[in-house]
Amino acid sequence: MSLPSSRSLAPGGTIGMLGGGQLGRMTALAAANLGFRCHIFAPEAESPAAMVSAAWTRAAYDDEAALTAFAEAVDVITYEFENVPAATAEILAPLKPLRPGARLLHVAQHRGREKTFFNNLGIATAPWALAGSESDFAAAVRAIGTPCIAKTTTEGYDGKGQARIVAATDLAATWARLGGRELIVEGFVDFVAEASVIAARDVDGAARCFPIGRNVHRDGILHTTTIPGGFDAATLAQGEDIGTRTAEAVDLVGLVCVELFVGRDGRMLANEMAPRPHNSGHWTQDGCVTSQFEQHVRAVCGLPLGPVEPRASRIEMTNLIGAEAEGWRSIVAEPNAKLHLYGKGEARPGRKMGHVNRFWP
Ligand SMILES: Nc1ncnc2c1ncn2[C@@H]1O[C@H](COP(=O)(O)OP(=O)(O)O)[C@@H](O)[C@H]1O
Ligand SMILES: [Mg+2]
Repeated sequence: MSLPSSRSLAPGGTIGMLGGGQLGRMTALAAANLGFRCHIFAPEAESPAAMVSAAWTRAAYDDEAALTAFAEAVDVITYEFENVPAATAEILAPLKPLRPGARLLHVAQHRGREKTFFNNLGIATAPWALAGSESDFAAAVRAIGTPCIAKTTTEGYDGKGQARIVAATDLAATWARLGGRELIVEGFVDFVAEASVIAARDVDGAARCFPIGRNVHRDGILHTTTIPGGFDAATLAQGEDIGTRTAEAVDLVGLVCVELFVGRDGRMLANEMAPRPHNSGHWTQDGCVTSQFEQHVRAVCGLPLGPVEPRASRIEMTNLIGAEAEGWRSIVAEPNAKLHLYGKGEARPGRKMGHVNRFWP
């Protein structure tokens, strides 16, 4: 039985979630608060999401029998990472509503498709060119000019699979180091700030954006998100417009995050998108009437979206990477801090172990 798009899934229903990481975990916790159950589908031995969920299928994303049984056991299917294989989505989509849909998944899996999508909507990006071979790569760098950034078109995250290129860079060595695979070459954006817009859209097409924060990265990984971000009203309006248009263009049901660069002239450029809750929205757990996780659950279950007003005058989310999570004792002793740990075993360098939301009433 599939879920009619005009009807809501009642509390007690089960959300199927592809992926077992911290985004799935926090979505499952928000779903539990609304009376829903979560069933995680993830192949890894350790799953922060499965630890807090009603059920877990541990199987590969190409295990058709396991996927079919999973679809039978749930009412609606979503995901917490964008690299769900297209074949997996094709098996599941006819069986139960898959939200957000396969189109957004397809676009978000490839940096070239993302940039094309934005540009077709009239949303500005850095200048870019694709390169499928070493000689293409040299031509793309010549066309874009230096400095520029080369990125693998698929599977990059937290700054992985990227190289900064200047005039003296050895392109053959860079091509080899990035794996001899398709690259996108992007002009280097001399931004004054990074930001992101998280847009939610419900089954009836109503869209709402969370307040836009300022993101600071360290070593290619998000370090802090601060609300308010100190942007003027015109800049914020551009960001909201980019979020809303992106959501509408893919007929979104769920959440989409668009990462943005704020240029020196105040113009916003779109960088990349994620069809799911995003690290830059973790502040909403303690700083917003509705968290991004609850909003995602509401959208995919066919409930109306919740209010997105901030609940504090200033909120700052700081990621706890690797050994930084060992500072948990002092964080829980702070009067204006909320600690969120993901239950991961090993604190490897660069691994996201948790985050803290600090707020000022
Ligand atoms: N074209 C660019 N110009 C300047 N900085 C960039 C550019 N692309 C990426 N960066 C920097 O690298 C970070 C990570 O790149 P991003 O494209 O978001 O990949 P990831 O998937 O790793 O998050 C960005 O948040 C930004 O700080
Ligand atoms: Mg990014």
